[in-house]
Amino acid sequence: MNDHCYEHLQAILERLKLTRVPERLDQLAEAAAKESWTYVEFLDRVLDVEVSARVERDVTMKTRLARFPFVKTLDQFDFSFQPALNEAQIRELATARFVAHGENILLLGPPGVGKTHLAVSLGVAAILQGISVVFFTVADLVDLVQQDVKEDRLERRLHALCKPKLLILDEMGYVPLDQRSAQFLFRLISRRYQKGSVILTSNKSYGEWGDVVSDYVLATAMLDRLLHYSTTINIRGESYRLREKRKAGVFHDLTAKPVKGGPSTSRKTQEEGPNSVNGRYDGL
Ligand SMILES: Nc1ncnc2c1ncn2[C@@H]1O[C@H](COP(=O)(O)OP(=O)(O)OP(=O)(O)O)[C@@H](O)[C@H]1O
Ligand SMILES: [Mg+2]
Repeated sequence: MNDHCYEHLQAILERLKLTRVPERLDQLAEAAAKESWTYVEFLDRVLDVEVSARVERDVTMKTRLARFPFVKTLDQFDFSFQPALNEAQIRELATARFVAHGENILLLGPPGVGKTHLAVSLGVAAILQGISVVFFTVADLVDLVQQDVKEDRLERRLHALCKPKLLILDEMGYVPLDQRSAQFLFRLISRRYQKGSVILTSNKSYGEWGDVVSDYVLATAMLDRLLHYSTTINIRGESYRLREKRKAGVFHDLTAKPVKGGPSTSRKTQEEGPNSVNGRYDGL
C-alpha cells in the first residue's frame, strides 16, 4: 500500500469512528498476505475487530451502570453445593429470553444460599446479551424513597427505575417497608408489569410479604403482578458462607428451617419452567 493510500485510509477510519481498526490494521494486512485470505475474509476480520471492541465497551459500561454489589458469573457458582437446584433451568434463564417476554424471576431461600450470586450472574448474562440492568437492594430503595420525598423527585425516580430492561431487587424481607416505600414498590412493579423484567430475591415466603409491607392488600396486589409471568426458584440448601464453619462443627444449623410455604409449590414451579403461574398466592 503506498503512503498516500495508507493516510487516506487512516482518515476514513477516523471519520467513521472505527477506533480499534487502525491499531490492528498492519497486523491483519500481514496475516491476510501470509494466509492468502480472500478480500471478503479480510473485510470480515477487520470489521470483527471493531465490533468486538464495541461490544466489550458496551458490556463494561452496562456493568458499571448496573451497580452490582459484586460481579460473579454462573461459572463461579458451585451447583454441586445446591443439588436441589435445577442447573439446566438456571442456564436457560441465563439466555435472558425471559427479559424479551417481560417475565420475572423470584429467588427465595434462607441466608447464604446464593440468591444474590445467582441474581447478579443472571444480570451479567443479560448484559452480555446487550440488555440494560440495574441492581438495588430493597433497603437502598427505602433510603432513596425517603431522600426523594424530601427532594420532591419521587416521580422522576419511578420513571428512571422503569427504564432498564431488567431490574434486580435484592433482599426483599430483610427490612420492613414503611407505607410510602411499600406504595412506591407497588407502583414500580405495576409500571413494569409485562414491560420490564424483575429479578427479586427474598428470604421470606410469599405468605410473609403482608408483614414485610405491613399491608396484606398491597402485598397481594404486588405478588399478583410479579408472579403472573414468572419463575420461582426456591433454594432450600445450606448457607455457602457457613459451609467451612459447619464442617468444623462450630456452627449449629440455624438455617435448616425451610422457607415457609415454599417447598412443594416451588418444586412444582421449578419443574414447570418460565411461564409457570403456579407459585401464585403461595401461602397468602
Ligand atoms: N453454590 C455456590 N457456589 C459458589 N459460591 C457461592 C454459592 N452459594 C453462595 N456462594 C457465595 O457465598 C456468598 C454468599 O452468597 P449470596 O450473597 O449469594 O447469598 P444470599 O442467598 O444472597 O444470602 P443473603 O440472604 O444473606 O443475602 C457469596 O460470596 C456467593 O458468591
Ligand atoms: Mg443476598
